[in-house]
Amino acid sequence: MPTVFAYIGSPHGSRSNTYALAKMMLDRLAEKDDAVRCEIFTPAETAVRYCRGCWTCMTKGFCPQDEHDDMAMLRERMENASFIVLGSPVYAINVSGQMKTFFDRLPAWLHTMRLAGKAGVTVATTAGSGLPEVQNYLGMMMASLGVKTVGTLGSYGSLPGHLYDPDGARNDARALADAIYSYVTGERAVTTDEYLEEVFGIMKQKIEAAGEGVLAGDLDYWTQAGYLECSCFADVLEKRKRLPG
Ligand SMILES: Cc1cc2nc3c(=O)[nH]c(=O)nc-3n(C[C@H](O)[C@H](O)[C@H](O)COP(=O)(O)O)c2cc1C
Repeated sequence: MPTVFAYIGSPHGSRSNTYALAKMMLDRLAEKDDAVRCEIFTPAETAVRYCRGCWTCMTKGFCPQDEHDDMAMLRERMENASFIVLGSPVYAINVSGQMKTFFDRLPAWLHTMRLAGKAGVTVATTAGSGLPEVQNYLGMMMASLGVKTVGTLGSYGSLPGHLYDPDGARNDARALADAIYSYVTGERAVTTDEYLEEVFGIMKQKIEAAGEGVLAGDLDYWTQAGYLECSCFADVLEKRKRLPG
């Protein structure tokens, strides 16, 4: 069953503008195909603690904070999803603090392009400024996670529940859902792009240079996944295609 994972980093949860915009796209996907399952998470109902900067995720491959919050569950849902949606309101010309906290809990995944092979969409809303900055940042995070960004959705609004042009936003969201549907179902396979190749090149160099030191957990993943033998991200995608299941 195709499953879409969405994390929307607004403290307003399901009342938020960014949530509303993402939901317009997800509703259209569900309308097109009732086999598509959409899961939306927000900081309003899931707890994500701050990263403590202990490096355990990168050296040993686990996060001590996972015992105390919902991050392990969120990671599992992301791994099992076929499509990823990451959304944030613009706060001070950047993503919200909640969204940044979510990313801060993923360093080992950002070093291992853990979601390689999946496609995704970024979503952002703002009262006026910062939309390109936030879309760009979310896109960089997607590529670092190994996710190919196949679309972006943005709109303008103020207080929760007040998108300035809800009809225009709905039209954009529905058009994007139609455009990405074949990625959600897996009919259309992900291909590499310049961002994914850039991240792969930088990460490979970083992991090889660090050796068995502070990134030992990340090196283990690269070794076991066979990524060290890959010369580019296109090779990683080929390798993943040959995996059973
Ligand atoms: C703390 C805070 C900071 C904000 N910073 C900006 C900003 O830098 N530029 C801007 O145009 N709008 C800014 N806004 C407005 C929000 O981006 C806008 O209202 C957005 O739609 C909120 O999304 P949400 O309802 O999903 O949380 C800010 C709002 C808040 C609450």
